[in-house]
Amino acid sequence: MANFNHLINREGTNSVKYDLRKEVFGKAGVIPMWVADMDFAMPPCVAEALKGRIEHGILGYSFRSEGFADAITTWLQRRHGVSFDTSSVCFSPGIVSALVVLIEAFTGKTDKILIQPPVYHPFFEVPLQNQRQVIWNELVYEGRRYHMDFDKLAKQLKEVRMVILSNPHNPVSRAWTEEELEKFGRLCLENQVIVVSDEIHSDLMLGGHRHTPLIKACPELAPYLITCYAPSKTFNLAGLSTSAVLISNPSMREQYNQTLQRLHMQMGNVLGQVAFETAYRGGEAWLDELLSYLNATVTSIEYRLSNEFPWLSMSEPEATYLLWLDFRKLGFSAEVLNRKLIEECGLGLSRGDQFGPGGAGFMRMNIAAPRSVINEAFERLKLLKI
Ligand SMILES: Cc1ncc(COP(=O)(O)O)c(C=O)c1O
Repeated sequence: MANFNHLINREGTNSVKYDLRKEVFGKAGVIPMWVADMDFAMPPCVAEALKGRIEHGILGYSFRSEGFADAITTWLQRRHGVSFDTSSVCFSPGIVSALVVLIEAFTGKTDKILIQPPVYHPFFEVPLQNQRQVIWNELVYEGRRYHMDFDKLAKQLKEVRMVILSNPHNPVSRAWTEEELEKFGRLCLENQVIVVSDEIHSDLMLGGHRHTPLIKACPELAPYLITCYAPSKTFNLAGLSTSAVLISNPSMREQYNQTLQRLHMQMGNVLGQVAFETAYRGGEAWLDELLSYLNATVTSIEYRLSNEFPWLSMSEPEATYLLWLDFRKLGFSAEVLNRKLIEECGLGLSRGDQFGPGGAGFMRMNIAAPRSVINEAFERLKLLKI
């Protein structure tokens, strides 16, 4: 049994989440609940495999064996009931780097790329940094749940070259339903838009919600679809930079791989490959324990919110270990709210406005930490002067 209550000191490990607190929040002592990695040790089978590989002594140039593609496709079949051919599996160091390659491979300068804010900020930062235009299809918040604005989407898609979807959605914690995804996929198909479905959080489902891969909801979209997966969130391996980009359309796959090679990003790292394969083949029982732990944490937070924090609510947590907290009742600007949480509460959360239009007044909280840390964070939240 994994012990998720065990507190591991991450200070002094060059951890972005811990060791950059002073730079980011101006205060080294905040409880770090921002960057999306977990304060839990990786699955023991992964640690063992990495140790075994290190003991060999040589970490020279390596290639990805067939086991790489087999590990992810077998996982996706078993866990999410979706069949991908192993030939569709391509490599990327990370999913953000995959976005850079995909934009370079499939869009030209000034092409329009549609995203649905509030959303993971590289979805708009990467296109903008690469001189593409961003089209904003803002999500609508109703009854503690976000939904897509399909009417607007139908109009906007007419002028768009690519869409980037967060499925499930970071930061608003939506697990898109099959019906929503089918509607979304059909609209994209009608307009022959290239779709990137970022499914990096797909293994982290909460409250009995199930993940629906976009390709399963709308198989006809396959010729236009790119789906991204990684063990980095699921098994807490982000520092190993090993991810998978699945492309069924052979000519698009060729174009992706050529671009990856032109940018010299195809090599990958040998330890990442070991961790990737081992986690997908042997990490399932650990993941189920993790999900039980995260679900229990969410239940305890929901209880506290309704009993102790009448001024605070959150969107229904359906997926990811990131909660989307709604502070708008307090009426503070994004800047003031962030400052007060740092200075009065000693909490380091992600600012909602960082995720684009619709994010101001919200904060994203990473709850992938021992329950003692979460409890302490909510005690500190009571210190907020409202
Ligand atoms: C939706 C989404 N995509 C991608 C990433 C990051 O991926 P990577 O570290 O592989 O670039 C994150 C990290 O939080 C994320 O939430």
